[in-house]
Order: sequence, then structure tokens, then C-alpha cells
Amino acid sequence: MFSLEGHTAIVTGGASGIGLATGRALAGCGANVVVADIDEEAGARAAEGLSADGADARFVRADVADANDVDAMVEATVTRFGSLEILMHFAGIGMERHALDTTREEWDRILAVNLTGTFLVMQAAGAAMVEAGYGRIVSMASVAGERGGTGRTAYGASKGGVAAMTRVMALEWARHGVTVNTLAPGAIDTALVKKMHDAETRRAYLQAIPMGRYGVPEEVASAAVCLALPASSYITGITLPVDGGFASSGVIKRD
Ligand SMILES: NC(=O)c1ccc[n+]([C@@H]2O[C@H](COP(=O)([O-])OP(=O)(O)OC[C@H]3O[C@@H](n4cnc5c(N)ncnc54)[C@H](O)[C@@H]3O)[C@@H](O)[C@H]2O)c1
Repeated sequence: MFSLEGHTAIVTGGASGIGLATGRALAGCGANVVVADIDEEAGARAAEGLSADGADARFVRADVADANDVDAMVEATVTRFGSLEILMHFAGIGMERHALDTTREEWDRILAVNLTGTFLVMQAAGAAMVEAGYGRIVSMASVAGERGGTGRTAYGASKGGVAAMTRVMALEWARHGVTVNTLAPGAIDTALVKKMHDAETRRAYLQAIPMGRYGVPEEVASAAVCLALPASSYITGITLPVDGGFASSGVIKRD
């Protein structure tokens, strides 16, 4: 109930940041790991790293916004490993842009990867899991999908949509042994955040986070692995904050 020995996991966005840390954590619990990413060099390196540590790991190049890539990713996984027990769908892109400055092209790109990509990946993996009668799906929302944050028109809308979609799939697949949950991280130090958060955003965040610091990818991976355990069979449809207390916070007096 508390081991992932013999389970196979796909980690989209597994080449970097939270996905990379989650692949390592899953392998540490005994899972076979398919690193799926659009970045071929970093993805191949991530899978090699897991293999060097003794895991059975593979890299599959996939653009999550491309239905053909997504179907091929799931098919290659089931062909190679015989089953698919876990999906960690973490591939995503970010952007900080005020509503009045957001172009139609930027809106379309964020929605295509973060929202349509989530639909395609969860539908393809979910089909295999429903057929098998077992599955653990963890998608990636964000605090930006739950609360208002300046500059998050497209990003926040995409992540709010991920949380809504996750709840619906959780209900539809509840009788098939497939749990579907989503994570809502706050500020986690990764490549995405280095691009997305300028100095002023960082200052504002540090003031508002009760723990007074950004999180690290391993702190999100631990929540993901918990939801992937066979023992986590009665948790479905939740949006789990991983944010140093940010979502629960109000006025913070620092002295
Ligand atoms: N870092 C944070 O503070 C934070 C907070 C909330 C939510 N998130 C979400 O967590 C997820 C992981 O983010 P991260 O911070 O680790 O970022 P990251 O940039 O370090 O990793 C994202 C990975 O996704 C891959 N990717 C991007 N577009 C892709 C596509 N079309 N197809 C396949 N792979 C693609 C990238 O190549 C990269 O390896 C994202 O969905 C992000 O929105 C991050």
C-alpha cells in the first residue's frame, strides 16, 4: 500500500523543475518512470540520471498540446512496460502579463499547452487506466487558478480550468479505481519562476507567504507521490495547496 514497486509512471514536464524532482521521488519509491517532455536534451538527460540511479526509466519526446504526440506517449509506455498506473501531468508554461497587454497569440499559446494539453494527456492516460480498473492521476493547477494575482489573466484562467477539469474526471472515473487530484503550488523556485517572477513579484510573494520563503521542487514532489500511492485510494477530486501556507493566509504581522 505504501510502495510503488512495479508501478509505471508517466511524468510530463519531467525534464525540469517539479517534474524532474517528482520523477526522482517516484523512482526512489520503486516506480518505472517515463520522462515525457518537449525538451529532448534535458528529457534524455533526466531519464539517464534515473537509470544511473537504478530505475527503469525512458525518455519520450512529446508536445502535450499535440494529440498525436500524446497518444504515442501513452502507447509507447504501455507497450514497453505493460501497464500504466500513474500519471503526473506537470508540463506547463507561464507568463506574467496584465490583461490589457495580453495578446491573442499569448492567450492561445498558454491555453493550448496548459489547458488543452491537460485535457489531451488526462483523457489518453485516463482511458488506459479506466480500462485497467486502476490509476492515480495528479494534474498541475496553481495558486494562480484559485486566487487573483496581477498579471495572471491567461495563466490563472488555464490553471483554474485544470482544477475544474480534474474534479469532473475524478467523478466520472471514481467507480473505476482511478483517482484524479490536482496540486496548487504557490511560489516554487524553478526555471519557470525565474522567467515569470520579476524582483517586485518576488518581494510581494515573500511578504505574503507565511513561511517567508519560496518552496523547492522536492516539496511538491512529496505531495505528488503521496497521492500516487495505492494507499491513497479514498482521496479524489481535491485541489491540494503546496504553498507554505499562502492560500490559508490573511494579515501577516512579521514582528
Ligand atoms: N514553479 C512554480 O512556482 C509553480 C507554481 C504553480 C504551478 N506550477 C506549475 O508546475 C508545472 C511545472 O512547472 P515548473 O515550475 O517545474 O517549470 P519548469 O519550466 O522547470 O518545467 C516545465 C517543463 O515542462 C516542459 N514543457 C513545456 N511545454 C511543454 C509542452 N508543450 N509539452 C511537453 N513539455 C512541455 C518544459 O520543457 C519543462 O521541462 C507547470 O505546469 C507550472 O505551471 C509551477
